Amino acid sequence: MKLAVVGKGGVGKTTLAAALARWLSRSGPVVAVDADPDGNLAAALGIPPERVPEPIAGMRDLIRERTGARDEGAGLMFKLNPEVADLPDRFSVDAGGVRLLVLGTVELGGKGCMCPEGAVLKALMQHLLLRVPDHVILDMEAGLEHMGRASASGVDAMISVVEPGMRSVQTAVRIQKLARDIGIQRIFVVVNKVSDANQREAILRCFDNQLVIGTLPFSAPLARADLEGRSVDVDDRAFQEAVGRLGEALASRLGCGTGPG
Ligand SMILES: Nc1ncnc2c1ncn2[C@@H]1O[C@H](COP(=O)(O)OP(=O)(O)OP(=O)(O)O)[C@@H](O)[C@H]1O
Ligand SMILES: [Mg+2]
Repeated sequence: MKLAVVGKGGVGKTTLAAALARWLSRSGPVVAVDADPDGNLAAALGIPPERVPEPIAGMRDLIRERTGARDEGAGLMFKLNPEVADLPDRFSVDAGGVRLLVLGTVELGGKGCMCPEGAVLKALMQHLLLRVPDHVILDMEAGLEHMGRASASGVDAMISVVEPGMRSVQTAVRIQKLARDIGIQRIFVVVNKVSDANQREAILRCFDNQLVIGTLPFSAPLARADLEGRSVDVDDRAFQEAVGRLGEALASRLGCGTGPG
């Protein structure tokens, strides 16, 4: 499965990306990609600060070596299809069967502009999404505007996280439109932090039946874990079972033979 997790700020994208990565790792290798410049997927996966991988976009020597970028002569010249196949192994950190890669920030000079860092990240995304057999889960920055067609084209589904509140629903509706514009066909909504049936019903009324693929309960142990700087591997049966049900629903809707069995 190649999944991108999107949604309004704070709805639980990183939490869900980490929990789903954990669940998927029972059925095969998983690469979890922190694609949020202000990301904290490492913490959600329980990787201590000293082991957090360096962001790829910030590796100046590597970017220069792969793209041959030179700042001399008549403007900036660089390769648009750099070699990246070795990067996932070299620069990811293992967290109990889930390998974490951190992309970092790319300064794009404007719409459609490409820089050497962007070329490396684009090639890396395409490699992970189109050539690597592992499950890949992308934890995205809030919103969707930054998501390029390069990453969109290889994603099997986009998971749009909402919480019980109309503001996150409005963002999800906006994301749906943007996703269609960049060619993503499959978008599923996950309702997170649900405390009671009324909240769930209120959110379900906002979307097509087919669109909502899962509900995750509000979990006090999960909130406490974040407060104490611990990972999402919390002892909360209701939450973990809901993640499992979501994983199975995704596998079945996407026609993947996955699931821990
Ligand atoms: N089901 C849940 N139950 C309780 N707390 C939750 C749940 N899901 C997420 N949280 C908490 O909500 C907060 C925001 O979660 P998270 O960081 O995953 O959101 P995000 O969408 O990635 O945020 P950002 O937009 O800043 O990247 C965290 O404190 C997290 O522990
Ligand atoms: Mg996040």
